[in-house]
Amino acid sequence: MTEQKQPQNQNQNFLRDIWYYAIPGDQLKPGKMFAKQLLGEPIVFGRTDGGEVFALRDICPHRAVPLSCGQFNGTEIECAYHGWRFDQAGQCKLIPALNQDQDVDLKKFQVRRYPVREVQGNIWIYMSDQERSDTEPNHPIPMVAGFEDQNYQVRLTMKFDCFIDHAVIGLMDPSHVPFVHRAWWWRTDAILTDEIKAFDPSPYGFTMRRHRLERETFFYRLLGGNPEVEIAFQLPGVRIEQITTNTNRVANMTVITPISDTETEVTTMFYTTIGLLKLFRPILLPFVRTFLDQDRDMVVKQQIGLKYNPPLMLIRDADTQAKWYYQLRSAFAKSTSENCEFINPVKSQVLRWRS
Ligand code: FES
Ligand SMILES: [Fe+2]
Repeated sequence: MTEQKQPQNQNQNFLRDIWYYAIPGDQLKPGKMFAKQLLGEPIVFGRTDGGEVFALRDICPHRAVPLSCGQFNGTEIECAYHGWRFDQAGQCKLIPALNQDQDVDLKKFQVRRYPVREVQGNIWIYMSDQERSDTEPNHPIPMVAGFEDQNYQVRLTMKFDCFIDHAVIGLMDPSHVPFVHRAWWWRTDAILTDEIKAFDPSPYGFTMRRHRLERETFFYRLLGGNPEVEIAFQLPGVRIEQITTNTNRVANMTVITPISDTETEVTTMFYTTIGLLKLFRPILLPFVRTFLDQDRDMVVKQQIGLKYNPPLMLIRDADTQAKWYYQLRSAFAKSTSENCEFINPVKSQVLRWRS
């Protein structure tokens, strides 16, 4: 068994020049604003009367009052303090205190604008380095294949009080499952079985190759039986699980977004071919919440130990995916800081563990 000591505070910064999941699209109605901190930055999202989504730095460049404290008329935001107005591109359009003969070039007054896109029911935001805020992103937005024109049917968002890395690793950590996720509808005991899974590199991450699930839980039987699964992970913290059964296709996308150094948001969504799934939302959501709560409880316990800044270990093969995450993360950070091509450090291989 090979161990690798992992300094836990290694690289406590966020990946830049990449899309992050921001908010569900329906949280933003036309003519409304929504303020939210992401990666430690205050951001105001807005949707124009025409339905277009935008995101600006939520600080007025005049005297720092959050723009979200002002008024939005569906076209422009008016700051609450002195009434400066900004359009959806962050351009200052009006300074009410100016006399008519005071000729000021309003172009000089600009709020930082963040690129945003709305896909599959969600709003994504491109978080670049501050200096390069106007570069158009060429990085792809994570998509749930097979559901291109659909919105999710069920969604749940939770806050984890930890740095993003600990939440991401929980997503890909196979050996915690029998100990943390015990429930009658999932697994009731900690009887471990041998797992052998093949992995391949995939865009900005890796994919557990499609395979038949030997352990049929109650949940999978409900979906139609004979389940096959493929699980893909990609930076910055996106896990997409595609399940095919005899009768249905279900995709679960879980996205992880840092709010700050100590707070991380985890959102899980289901896209399915089951038309009536929405009706079952009140039944399904408590199950999903229980599952995520179990992860969150463990992260809370982990913080108790992390306060003492101990070195952490990654063992082979159970923690190999976590190791890949760290490798992907540093390869991506290198590619953006040195402005060179991203080279995926993951090679196709078979991993074995017990869970
Ligand atoms: S602080 Fe916004 S207009 Fe003065
Ligand atoms: Fe978990």
